[in-house]
Amino acid sequence: MSELAEWDIVTGVGITALGVAAGRAMETHRDGGLVSDPYAEAFVRAAATPVPMPTRLDATDEREMPWTSMADYMGVRSRFFDDYFAEVARAGVDQVVLLAAGLDVRAYRLDWPDGTTVYELDAPKVLSFKDDVLAQQGAAPRADRRVVSVDLREDWRGPLREKGFDPGRPSAWLAEGLLPFLPNAAKERLFRFVSELSAPGSRFEVEHIDDVRGMLQEESAQRARDLFGVDIETLWPDDGPFAAAAWLADHEWEVDVVRSSEVAERLGRTLDGPDHDPARSSVFVTAVRL
Ligand SMILES: C[S@@+](CC[C@H](N)C(=O)[O-])C[C@H]1O[C@@H](n2cnc3c(N)ncnc32)[C@H](O)[C@@H]1O
Repeated sequence: MSELAEWDIVTGVGITALGVAAGRAMETHRDGGLVSDPYAEAFVRAAATPVPMPTRLDATDEREMPWTSMADYMGVRSRFFDDYFAEVARAGVDQVVLLAAGLDVRAYRLDWPDGTTVYELDAPKVLSFKDDVLAQQGAAPRADRRVVSVDLREDWRGPLREKGFDPGRPSAWLAEGLLPFLPNAAKERLFRFVSELSAPGSRFEVEHIDDVRGMLQEESAQRARDLFGVDIETLWPDDGPFAAAAWLADHEWEVDVVRSSEVAERLGRTLDGPDHDPARSSVFVTAVRL
């Protein structure tokens, strides 16, 4: 394993998992919240973050607007992918793979049919922090949850299969909050691996930001520093565009794309304001393996 073995929850890429958990905590506490995440606040409280991360919108100060934006976006994104998993369950797919699971607790908070296995792939120290907090909280998964410590830029197929994943049966995959961290060559490799391991009828859901370069502009980078205390430029390779939906359509996936701002509108939220960077250019790609 690469330097990823050293990434923990408060340095480098790990802290972004805490930042999105803070957004989910805020959304959870909000009237009419789009996600109810019972452990998001506990994760944030358990970590010694370099900058304070609020877990309630009424606790935010002058940084209120970016955090409101974060809560909105996390609510919309979580609800969209929660609905996807409800559909997956109805379709009888019982193998779920969360690529870069971070502090996602869907294995604990969604209603999985008996016999569902949820594989969570991420960096080892992120996963061990998560396990410790969940154990302190007395949390019990509602599916057969299996963690797989890997670097997603490398070849993670063996470790996933060793944990019991069966490529001969349909599966459901999620890449939420992951692609911008991967160089384009690694994105393509990841897509190839998912395609190879996906039996016909499998589903793949991807959150994709077309304009990563725009996200690296000074104003956005400063916002990431304010919110998370990290230099986003050191985490997101500036590699130019990656045509996620087109790649999948060219590789035997039936593809549907929706802008997150459209999803937000359906859910009664607005994401298009000037303080809504990630949302401004993100799309949710839904793919079904042919
Ligand atoms: C913004 S968080 C999103 C986590 C989760 N999907 C969610 O939405 O709550 C990004 C996650 O990607 C993971 N990550 C980034 N690059 C990775 C890599 N090369 N291998 C494994 N995990 C990676 C980080 O550890 C972190 O947990």
